[in-house]
Amino acid sequence: MDTQVNRQMDSTVQRRQFIRILGGGAVSAIAAATTASVALAGCSAGIPAEAIEAWKGPDSTLASVTDVRHWLLSYAILAPHSHNLQSWIADLRTPRQITLYCDLQRLLPQTDPLSRQIMMSHGTFLELLDMAARERGLRADITLFPQGAFGLTTPDARPVATVRLTPDATVQRDPLFAQVLQRHTNRSGYDITRAVPAPAWAAMADAANPAGAATVRVGHIGLDNGVVLDEHRRIAREAWRIELTVPRTIMESFEVLRVGASEIAAHRDGLSLTSPVVVAMDRLGLFDRKRAPGTHDYATTSQIKEFDAKLASTPGFLWMVTPANDRFTQIQAGRAYVRLQLAATAQGLAMQPLSQALQEYAEQRQPYADIHALAGATESGSTVQMWARVGYAPEVEPAPRRRLKDFIRV
Ligand SMILES: Cc1cc2nc3c(=O)[nH]c(=O)nc-3n(C[C@H](O)[C@H](O)[C@H](O)COP(=O)(O)O)c2cc1C
Repeated sequence: MDTQVNRQMDSTVQRRQFIRILGGGAVSAIAAATTASVALAGCSAGIPAEAIEAWKGPDSTLASVTDVRHWLLSYAILAPHSHNLQSWIADLRTPRQITLYCDLQRLLPQTDPLSRQIMMSHGTFLELLDMAARERGLRADITLFPQGAFGLTTPDARPVATVRLTPDATVQRDPLFAQVLQRHTNRSGYDITRAVPAPAWAAMADAANPAGAATVRVGHIGLDNGVVLDEHRRIAREAWRIELTVPRTIMESFEVLRVGASEIAAHRDGLSLTSPVVVAMDRLGLFDRKRAPGTHDYATTSQIKEFDAKLASTPGFLWMVTPANDRFTQIQAGRAYVRLQLAATAQGLAMQPLSQALQEYAEQRQPYADIHALAGATESGSTVQMWARVGYAPEVEPAPRRRLKDFIRV
C-alpha cells in the first residue's frame, strides 16, 4: 500500500484490522478500517456455496450411471494443492484409464521455482484417486512419467502419470478414505495447552508409509521439548518475514488472491479472502494488489506479528524427509503427505504446512539450511519435503474447488 493510502487510512481509522491469509505459502494483507465512511452494505462474506459444492462428494448420479472415472475424480480434486492452484488435468480419452497432466498455466515460478510443491500436489491427487478406486473395487495401476520424468526445473507437456483401472476383488479399501471430505488445511490459532499425544504422532507417521514402505522419514516435536519447539518457531517466523518482504514472492500470492464472493465464485481456486471489511476496502480501491507492501508498512509488520501469535499457539511441528529429491520422490512425498493429513484429521488434529523455509529461491537460503539441519536432513540429496504445524483448533471452512468438468479432457 502506498503512503498516500496509508495516510488516508491513518486519519480515518477508528479500528484497524489486518486480514491475513497464510495459505499455500502465500500472504495477503490489507489495512482495513471500520469507519463510518466505509459502506459495508452489499459486501458479501463467506465462501459462496457453489465454490465448495465439491465437498459434498460426487453427484449421486455419477456413482452408478455414468463413467466411474468421474466418481473417482470427484474425490481426487479434493486433494491439497499448494496455493490451491489445482493444476490437474485428467485426460479420459483412453478407456479405463486416466492420464494425468500438469496444467502449465498453474505454476508458481517465484515461490516454487523447481515446481517441487506442484509435483507433491500431483502426488496428493494420485493418492486420493487410488483410494477412491479401491472404494469401487478397482485396482489403480499408476505409472509415473510414462514418457519420462520432467527436468529438474519445470514440468512440461508430457504426462505426470497414467492410471489404469481394473476390477479386482482383492483390492482393499483404505480406512483413511472416510476422512477425505473432512480434511482441510487449518490456518487458525491452535490450542497451546493441548499436547499432541504420542499415539497420534505415531498414527500420522504410520499413515505416511503404508505397509511399512519407508518412503519418507517423519519426525515431530511437541510441548515436551520447548527449546527445539522455539527453534522451529524462529525458522518459520524468519522464512515468513522473507516471503512477505521479497516483492516478487508476495506479488505471486497477490495474483492468486480471490477477494470476496464474486471473485471466489468466478475462480474457485487460489486463496480466498472473505472478510466483509477487506472486501469493502478492496471494492473501494484501498487494497492495491498491483503493488507489494513495504517492509515497514503496517500491512507487513502486523502480519508478521499475527503469524508469530499462531506459531506461539502451536504445540507441535512435523516434518517429512526423503533421501532424494527427484520427480518420483516428490510425487511419493505428496502421496505420503495427504495420507498423513488424513490420519491427523481422523485424530481430530488440525494441520497447516509451512512451506516458506522449504522454498528454493535465493533469499530463503538460510531458513532452508536451518530447517534441513534441524530435521536431520544433512546427507546429500536429503530433502525436507513438508513441514507443518499441528495441534487442536476449531474446524474451518473448506477451500474452493473448480467444477469437475474443468479438470477433464475428453
Ligand atoms: C505441497 C504443498 C504445500 C503447501 N504449503 C502451504 C503453506 O505453506 N501454507 C499453507 O497455509 N498451506 C499450504 N498448503 C495447503 C494448501 O494451501 C491447501 O491445500 C489449499 O489451499 C487447499 O485447501 P485444503 O487443503 O483445505 O483443501 C500446501 C499444500 C501442499 C500440497
